[in-house]
Amino acid sequence: MNFQLTEEQLAVQAAAREFAQNELWAGVIERDEHQKFPAEQVKKMGELGFLGMMVSPEYGGGGMDTVSYVLAMEEISKVDASCSVIMSVNNSLVCWGLEKYGTEEQKQKYLTKLATGEIIGAFCLSEPEAGSDATMQRTTAVDMGDHYLLNGTKNWITNGSSASVYLVIAQTNPELRHRGINALIVERDTPGFVVGPKENKLGIRGSDTHSLMFTDVKVPKENRIGEDGFGFKFAMQVLAGGRIGIAAQALGIASGSYELALKYSKERKAFGVPISQHQAIQFKLADMATNIDAARLLCLQAAHDKDAHLDYAKSGAMAKLFASKVAMETSVEAVQVHGGYGFVKEFHVERLMRDAKITQIYEGTSEIQKIVISREILK
Ligand code: CAA
Ligand code: FAD
Repeated sequence: MNFQLTEEQLAVQAAAREFAQNELWAGVIERDEHQKFPAEQVKKMGELGFLGMMVSPEYGGGGMDTVSYVLAMEEISKVDASCSVIMSVNNSLVCWGLEKYGTEEQKQKYLTKLATGEIIGAFCLSEPEAGSDATMQRTTAVDMGDHYLLNGTKNWITNGSSASVYLVIAQTNPELRHRGINALIVERDTPGFVVGPKENKLGIRGSDTHSLMFTDVKVPKENRIGEDGFGFKFAMQVLAGGRIGIAAQALGIASGSYELALKYSKERKAFGVPISQHQAIQFKLADMATNIDAARLLCLQAAHDKDAHLDYAKSGAMAKLFASKVAMETSVEAVQVHGGYGFVKEFHVERLMRDAKITQIYEGTSEIQKIVISREILK
């Protein structure tokens, strides 16, 4: 693995940092407090190419590598993890899945708009009774010849009300278990498709998380992704890469928390000296910096594996498992370094702490990452 970033990668990192600092800081507390979807900011992310970073230019994307994507995700997550989850779902679940497995017609019709941010997408696997145990899909897609009839409920769907295109996983042949599952492209205005109320969340409150209801929704056969029965493998492949994006989100939350704690520790005085001169605070900063560097290396290794066409299910799961733990620990310690000021909204670290928790839950909980890693080690 080459530890030296290329000029292009450094330029992407700098552009993402500038965008996050200039466009996301202002209003991030208000968006969090009022659960306001960052519509303007998402539009700008699209204009700057952050919503289809790895998509080939042929389909309107940036044609960038996964390392660049990780760098951009870190910078944006340092400031606003709600924006970065919207970005992550669109890039690594929706666009990547469509480019890798979609038909030319599907790419022309959907990917070209998703890659530029003209529209955004959602990825719909989880159900009220099928979260970690994702093969237990109860949503059905009955084969009606020229179309599928979709019935069921998805929950916790990111971009739930703001998306225009939904990749929906559903069971067609229950007797084949996970090999009977399909992945279908569903358009927002299809009759029978209803978006449920918005979830009132602990963190990433700017992102819109909804349940989705499907009642006799007709989905044309040409909207199936891949062969009949490919849907579960599709979901797993997409998530293997998606986990690298969420690992980078966790890394950004950790490094954002650390940067705030470091700055504050040099400014705040107690017992006549800046608190950074107390060894207890120095050791917290040392632990944070060490863990963040280790998390970054795991993220870059997973991104490198994907770019080099090596197997990245294990390295992506390791990166997510570790970086999400570091995000949680670092953000809690950043609140501690801030003392009472850390407990109020103006200082940002309490929000980063609330945002950190989700990185241990979505795109596979930490327990699920351990299952993925141990199966790879033992196989
Ligand atoms: N690539 C391709 N195929 C894969 C795969 C991978 N990385 N991992 C598993 N598979 C295939 C297996 O080969 C198997 O297929 P075959 O039998 O045909 O070989 C099939 O998937 C089932 O695999 P398992 O027998 O291992 O299935 P399992 O029931 O034991 O569980 C699991 C697998 C890893 C636990 C899986 O259910 C899982 O990942 N669960 C977590 C779900 C998840 O991550 N949800 C995230 C939702 S999206 C989201 O959260 C977005 C967001 O927040 C922003
Ligand atoms: P459960 O599967 O019920 O797990 C409960 C607990 O049991 C967890 O601690 C889990 O780790 C543990 N557990 C379960 N099975 C095992 C096991 N075999 N061994 C050890 N421990 C186990 N989903 C989507 O499809 N699309 C999205 O866009 C999306 N966005 C989300 C956004 C938010 C804000 C949230 C909260 C969730 C989102 N999800 C999305 C769903 C998310 O992926 C699931 O919540 C997650 O996979 C866990 O599923 P669950 O909530 O049903 O928990």
